[in-house]
Amino acid sequence: MEHRRPFKLMALSLIFMGVATLAWASAIAAQTANTETKPAVTAPAASQADGDYVGMETCITCHEDQHKRFKNTVMGKIMEHPRTDLEKRGCEACHGPGKAHVEAGGGKETIPVRFGKDSKNSVAEQNAACLDCHSKGNRLFWKGSQHDSRAIACVDCHQVKQELHPALSSEGRYSSPLTENRGLKKSQPELCLQCHQMRKAQLQRSSHMPYREGKVTCTSCHNPHGSPNPKQLLQSTTNENCLSCHTERRGPFLWEHPPVMENCANCHDPHGTSNPQLLKVRMPRVCDSCHVATRHPTQAQPLGSIKNFNRGCTNCHSAIHGSNHPSGDKFLR
Ligand code: HEC
Ligand code: HEC
Ligand code: HEC
Ligand code: HEC
Ligand code: HEC
Ligand code: HEC
Ligand code: HEC
Ligand code: HEC
Ligand code: HEC
Ligand code: HEC
Repeated sequence: MEHRRPFKLMALSLIFMGVATLAWASAIAAQTANTETKPAVTAPAASQADGDYVGMETCITCHEDQHKRFKNTVMGKIMEHPRTDLEKRGCEACHGPGKAHVEAGGGKETIPVRFGKDSKNSVAEQNAACLDCHSKGNRLFWKGSQHDSRAIACVDCHQVKQELHPALSSEGRYSSPLTENRGLKKSQPELCLQCHQMRKAQLQRSSHMPYREGKVTCTSCHNPHGSPNPKQLLQSTTNENCLSCHTERRGPFLWEHPPVMENCANCHDPHGTSNPQLLKVRMPRVCDSCHVATRHPTQAQPLGSIKNFNRGCTNCHSAIHGSNHPSGDKFLR
């Protein structure tokens, strides 16, 4: 048994040494981690160096022009006085860590994220840079939205570096027309009409919502960042959308006209038509598309018949959206 003792001792001391080494190593590791997190505590107000991030001050030495065009925007102002770690990254919050770029003395290939048509980053990569900060609020339903799935980039519609027009400052922005430019490449509806050519044609038609007059614009009804509702609508159905402004049409009615309660778009197209009152089809055909079995409408009438006068079924059926009159079952009053 005697000969085993030195072995035991050796084993014990080996274990001890191992533990000591581990402790020492983790102490070093903790120290390194400390030096890495330390600057965050004593951080300067604006962006800063951190790992592969070099900080806005470094970028500005070569890109003063971009800084000038960025610092007066809503985002630029916030990144000069950052509140979160992401905002502290400044330029690199969007363009990615710039260490390699700076060490190479610049160059288009060395910057991790570039935007626009000649960028080698995919649209998804470009958008991810924005979504780091903007995935909540109005962007909650961006993922899988029509625009996302057709690879539309945030920067197809937005520009982020521009001089802030005086009229855009706080109060001015809220009292300005709907078509005012808010970090957008173009004002509405032109912005949307670049791609939605069909809508462009419709807006020129004789009957249209007051887009040109600036009372309604595409985002009065749609959220281009996506929504849980059909057709990126702000409201859950077409009717809820219409009724949010045309409240007098909501009812309840004693006598309901079923197609009205079902969908305003049965008869109207809100983007514009060549018929009066945004009707998809002129009267009486808009009525006849459903009422084929009734007596007077579809029956052959003398040319001068009062039933066809001025093509106006609503000359008599004036309460076509619903009636509250006790004898309004035919929407005559
Ligand atoms: C909010 C995201 C964002 C931030 C922050 C940002 N950029 Fe950009 N940068 C862009 C986009 C998007 C473009 C593409 C052109 C455009 O839309 O203005 C761009 C373009 C550029 C270009 C190409 C030349 C040009 O002007 O088109 C340079 C250089 C540049 N940025 C440098 C910087 C520097 C330096 C900073 C910090 C002062 C910075 N960027 C901050 C998003 C950003
Ligand atoms: C030592 C000078 C220098 C520094 C520092 C520097 N850049 Fe650059 N950067 C350049 C040069 C030079 C180019 C190439 C310009 C060109 O080819 O038109 C460039 C190109 C870029 C581009 C692409 C421009 C384009 O046309 O698409 C972006 C974006 C950019 N820099 C952002 C940054 C950011 C962000 C920082 C800070 C992390 C930074 N740069 C720091 C010199 C610098
Ligand atoms: C580091 C965080 C951050 C990143 C990254 C970022 N933003 Fe912003 N952005 C903000 C903050 C903060 C505001 C101001 C308040 C708000 O809307 O939350 C803002 C505001 C905006 C606005 C509204 C401007 C206005 O006039 O009201 C637009 C548009 C915008 N960002 C687009 C973008 C786009 C496009 C990108 C990507 C190229 C991007 N942002 C990347 C933080 C960021
Ligand atoms: C199809 C065009 C289009 C695309 C694509 C788009 N936006 Fe917008 N965005 C707009 C319009 C238009 C407004 C102004 C809305 C308003 O004034 O009601 C806006 C407003 C904003 C605002 C400020 C107001 C708000 O809603 O908080 C931010 C931030 C913003 N967009 C970020 C983004 C980001 C991030 C992306 C990419 C994921 C993106 N946008 C993609 C058209 C677009
Ligand atoms: C008054 C509300 C309203 C306004 C303003 C509006 N839309 Fe719409 N939009 C709708 C409704 C409601 C639908 C769904 C119609 C339907 O179900 O037939 C729709 C559908 C769409 C569709 C999908 C069409 C399809 O056939 O799938 C597109 C694209 C569209 N709108 C683009 C636009 C553009 C671009 C503008 C600005 C010029 C705009 N809209 C303004 C209410 C509106
Ligand atoms: C860069 C091109 C582009 C721009 C700019 C653009 N769109 Fe689109 N939009 C598309 C594409 C592509 C689709 C998918 C169309 C399709 O599937 O037929 C689409 C689809 C839509 C739809 C239909 C959604 C659905 O569920 O059917 C609506 C609504 C819409 N866009 C509204 C807008 C509005 C509002 C604007 C302006 C703020 C706008 N778009 C700007 C390209 C664009
Ligand atoms: C954002 C508010 C808003 C929404 C949402 C809205 N409208 Fe309108 N609508 C208006 C305004 C403003 C007018 C012009 C009224 C005026 O000049 O008195 C108008 C006018 C009309 C007209 C009369 C057009 C003419 O030629 O006289 C019809 C019809 C109409 N809207 C139907 C609809 C339908 C259908 C919907 C839903 C798809 C809808 N509206 C959603 C604001 C809205
Ligand atoms: C069955 C077809 C039909 C449906 C469905 C319908 N409308 Fe109409 N709407 C008409 C007709 C026809 C006129 C023209 C009335 C006239 O000439 O007196 C009209 C006119 C209007 C007008 C403008 C004139 C006015 O009286 O203010 C508005 C606004 C309107 N409709 C809103 C709506 C809304 C909102 C809905 C959905 C809740 C809706 N309509 C559903 C047939 C319809
Ligand atoms: C999308 C189909 C549709 C369209 C378009 C439509 N209607 Fe109707 N309408 C109905 C339905 C469904 C009823 C309920 C029929 C019933 O109760 O037997 C109805 C009921 C009526 C009634 C009462 C009939 C009764 O028997 O009590 C009148 C009057 C009427 N519609 C007139 C019109 C006029 C005028 C138009 C054109 C402005 C029109 N409708 C367009 C579907 C439509
Ligand atoms: C001169 C007034 C007048 C005009 C114009 C008129 N109607 Fe009527 N309509 C009536 C009256 C009154 C009734 C109810 C008495 C009846 O049953 O004949 C009625 C009943 C109806 C009914 C219910 C019929 C049934 O079988 O119960 C429908 C549907 C209808 N009209 C549709 C239309 C359509 C569609 C037009 C346009 C082509 C139209 N009306 C034009 C006066 C008119």
